[in-house]
Amino acid sequence: MTVVTLGVHIVDVLARPVESIPAGQDTHLLEQIRITAAGAAAGTAVDLAKLGVQVASAGAVGDDELGDFLLMVMERHGVDVGGIVRKPGEQTAASILPIRPDGGRPSFHVPGANLGLSPADLDHGRVRAAGFLHLGGMDVTWGLHDPGFFALLDEARSGGTVVTMDLLSNMPDLVQGARVFLPHVDYFLPNEEQALMMSGAADAEEAAVKLLGEGPRGVLVTLGGEGSLVATAAGITRVPALDVPVVDTTGCGDAYCAGFIAGLAAGRDVLGAAGLGTAVAARVAGGLGSDAGLDGLDPSLL
Ligand SMILES: Nc1ncnc2c1ncn2[C@@H]1O[C@H](COP(=O)(O)OP(=O)(O)OP(=O)(O)O)[C@@H](O)[C@H]1O
Ligand SMILES: [Mg+2]
Repeated sequence: MTVVTLGVHIVDVLARPVESIPAGQDTHLLEQIRITAAGAAAGTAVDLAKLGVQVASAGAVGDDELGDFLLMVMERHGVDVGGIVRKPGEQTAASILPIRPDGGRPSFHVPGANLGLSPADLDHGRVRAAGFLHLGGMDVTWGLHDPGFFALLDEARSGGTVVTMDLLSNMPDLVQGARVFLPHVDYFLPNEEQALMMSGAADAEEAAVKLLGEGPRGVLVTLGGEGSLVATAAGITRVPALDVPVVDTTGCGDAYCAGFIAGLAAGRDVLGAAGLGTAVAARVAGGLGSDAGLDGLDPSLL
């Protein structure tokens, strides 16, 4: 069964441990610098490929060296990149993340080509044929806030595609704007901040219930080191995070989504799939970058 990840593609440049920006022209020596294919679609795609799931990604990058790098890395991990279009004259989205000694992750970001992604860039046949379609970062891909795209999602779902969705930003206007997708998705996986912003609720449980009322079969609110909360018609269950030494939590949400989708694809129920998401996210938290800790992994052992 093929998974299609659709949405945001970002090159992450990560460095650790960073305590401060050096004064003047000083240089600080660090332990590690990495560059990865990341973002709510690309990062999830790489994680899925590392979990042994057949995955194709769809989105937009620039016609620049960062775009060359992103496609090369995704392909090297086994992701089908045929659905990623190149936008001449735009820059590939990128983030610089100086990771603090405690794993904290401030960032600098250029949104670049992601903002221009539109339904015309997509291979609709591929979307309809997907077993699972993961929408990554619909709060920043405004070009997809389009009745034609919603109709495509509904068509895919009526053909059996399971649609999952995650967000990217923590900007209230953008996050609230993505609410229009809720009637068109099966499972919504925001983090706590996004769930509160989108619903206007006072806590994660209330947020999950409100968001569930807008259409999805399941809402999974991730709570960082506190784990996650899984809300379905059957009720609300808290899934604790694993107690692991944390290096960098970049991409933990993407890893959770990848594990969740891999779990559903392998026939697990929603709570079982959330458990796999939790285990995959814990591996990613133990290393630098959104795909850390997943090499040579047998997901059936998690
Ligand atoms: N410190 C931690 N220790 C163990 N597991 C963690 C930790 N932080 C996050 N996780 C796991 O990762 C999941 C997702 O984390 P989080 O809620 O931070 O996602 P996020 O904010 O969407 O991150 P991103 O957008 O960078 O992917 C959590 O539900 C939890 O299972
Ligand atoms: Mg996230």
